[in-house]
Amino acid sequence: MQTILITGGAGFIGSHLTRLFVTKYPNYKIVNLDKLTYAGNLENLKDIENSPNYTFVKGDIADLDLLTSLFNQYNFTGVLHCAAESHVDRSITDPLAFVKTNVVGTVCLLQAAKEHWKGNMEDKIFYHISTDEVYGSLGEEGFFYETTSYDPRSPYSASKASSDHFVRAYYHTYKLPVKISNCSNNYGPYHFPEKLIPLCIHNIINNKPLPIYGKGENVRDWLFVEDHARAIDIIFHNGKIGDTYNIGGHNEWTNIDLIRELCKQMDVKLGRPEGTSAQLITFVKDRAGHDLRYAIDATKLKNDLGWMPSLQFEEGLSRTIDWYLNNTEWLNRVTSGQYQDYYSGMYGK
Ligand code: NAD
Ligand code: TYD
Repeated sequence: MQTILITGGAGFIGSHLTRLFVTKYPNYKIVNLDKLTYAGNLENLKDIENSPNYTFVKGDIADLDLLTSLFNQYNFTGVLHCAAESHVDRSITDPLAFVKTNVVGTVCLLQAAKEHWKGNMEDKIFYHISTDEVYGSLGEEGFFYETTSYDPRSPYSASKASSDHFVRAYYHTYKLPVKISNCSNNYGPYHFPEKLIPLCIHNIINNKPLPIYGKGENVRDWLFVEDHARAIDIIFHNGKIGDTYNIGGHNEWTNIDLIRELCKQMDVKLGRPEGTSAQLITFVKDRAGHDLRYAIDATKLKNDLGWMPSLQFEEGLSRTIDWYLNNTEWLNRVTSGQYQDYYSGMYGK
């Protein structure tokens, strides 16, 4: 019997993780703490919201009093920490918001767990979900390993790197039983359409330009979000305390090739003549400090815990497009209101 606090469970990855734990472990009690920022959406959890082992709490991870009272109320045995400000472009505009949630919020969570578990750390787990962006930017060759030195270059990755350091500091200083994973770019259903893939799906549906930063030569390693959630499940239950695990898709794409593949699949699905969507591709001003390439070596996770990505990218992308085409109401709702202001601020009208 476990009682697990998931933070940020109403977001993209958090909702898949919450669904997996609520449905796979009916004897665990899952409490989802989420501030419901622009990126948090309870609609993402509609199918499980009435499950008897699931509770939602609206609140901020940077509110230490709230965290202390939740630990007292529920006696959590584990934490799956997903909540974060997660978009690099927003971190360039408003770095302080990233410090508040990603750094201060994570330290509040560590502090609440340490105080509550003091003298009884046995069988407890504080799992921190992080990103490969903490390792910096690769050239054309090489991979990120668990031993790669940190070299964050955006306010987002700097805030995540800082939070990772605090998690390790609590492990070494207070013996807090922590685990960390650093994952590559995720894609899949419920992905907020500010990120490359869902933004372009939305724009193709609406015949709007597909903004590609610079020359589109930057490389990302894409992983289907359910494979990430599955890896977290395996590490949470079988990973070693104090260890770090890299999670990646073995699936590198330049942005331009990825968007061409997306256009090709969407032309077929929308019944448009081949080449129609690709005409929407528009090269725009590059992102400031744009990291050239990310690529994960996930050998440790494969050798130690037997995890491998389950989906080929073309199939994962096809499933993702189908989800968006079948959930246009979700897409329309999240792209109304504030999204319009964000979009015109970033890309013009
Ligand atoms: P997301 O932006 O979709 O969701 C973040 C969630 O956190 C939202 O529900 C939001 O409401 C909530 N939140 C934000 N600030 C909060 C606060 N102060 N208190 C409580 N809740 C708050 O993010 P995501 O893409 O699902 O990323 C989840 C985690 O995974 C993050 O830690 C991110 O760094 C990490 N990660 C993401 C990716 C990716 O490709 N998306 C890859 C690797 C790692
Ligand atoms: P994004 O989805 O924001 O993830 P991250 O920056 O965390 O990797 O971006 C993925 C890649 O796509 C990245 O190289 C930036 C690029 N990109 C564009 O070219 N155009 C866009 O409109 C966006 C949002 C991203």
